[in-house]
Amino acid sequence: MQVEVVYLPRDLKPGHLRDRIIVVLDVLRATTTMIAALHAGAKEIRIFSALDEARTAASGVADQKILCGEERCKKPLDFDLGNSPGEFTPERATGRTLFMSTTNGTRAILAAQSAPIIYVGALVNARATAEALIDARRNVTLLCAGTDGRISVEDVIGAGAIVNAAMLMGDITLANDEAVIAARADLAARDSYAAAFRSGSGARNLVAAGLEQDVDFAAQIDSLPLVAEVRKSDTGGISVFRCRQPV
Ligand code: MLT
Repeated sequence: MQVEVVYLPRDLKPGHLRDRIIVVLDVLRATTTMIAALHAGAKEIRIFSALDEARTAASGVADQKILCGEERCKKPLDFDLGNSPGEFTPERATGRTLFMSTTNGTRAILAAQSAPIIYVGALVNARATAEALIDARRNVTLLCAGTDGRISVEDVIGAGAIVNAAMLMGDITLANDEAVIAARADLAARDSYAAAFRSGSGARNLVAAGLEQDVDFAAQIDSLPLVAEVRKSDTGGISVFRCRQPV
């Protein structure tokens, strides 16, 4: 199985998507938050590239919904919840459909939507995602969302954690230097993922916004052992679901 890592959505080429499994990571915070919401019992997370699209779609649904996301790290005033993983408790999330838009994470998922299989990954579900990749026996592209068009240290480390977990389980070839760097970044961060994340601009932005606890949440490796997959939703858009039987 060949594994490549792509550090930014703008570097995606058709060959990264064709006949491959894509894992999209936005460790701080969008994909960590999606995984937390599914773990808390959310039914489905509908994905939008803009806040207004999420608003419009949510306004057509009567109940059991949560409009969530962020603008410059903060919850828009009219939204139900922001983009903090800890907000998605079982009391709030169970059985609900989320309508979510974030600056980088939801757009990275949309950029990958032509791939045949798409998973949503983060440090919190690294091993579970690696197991699903090994079971699927296909070549893999790990796509990092980055932050505002720049590479994010936490996404690279998260991709490396999935790569290293998969290498313990099966026969993996690291097919580009980005994958080698990611695997080494994960090994270098193992003493303290939280400290490694705090060395980056994404965490600094969250600390400045008073959201430091989200960095610690995202740094807990394998704390939410589920596989999250992207599929078409009933409404024609795309959604993230908890995958009960990995492919
Ligand atoms: C994003 O999708 O841009 C991030 O998750 C931003 C954030 O930390 O809220």
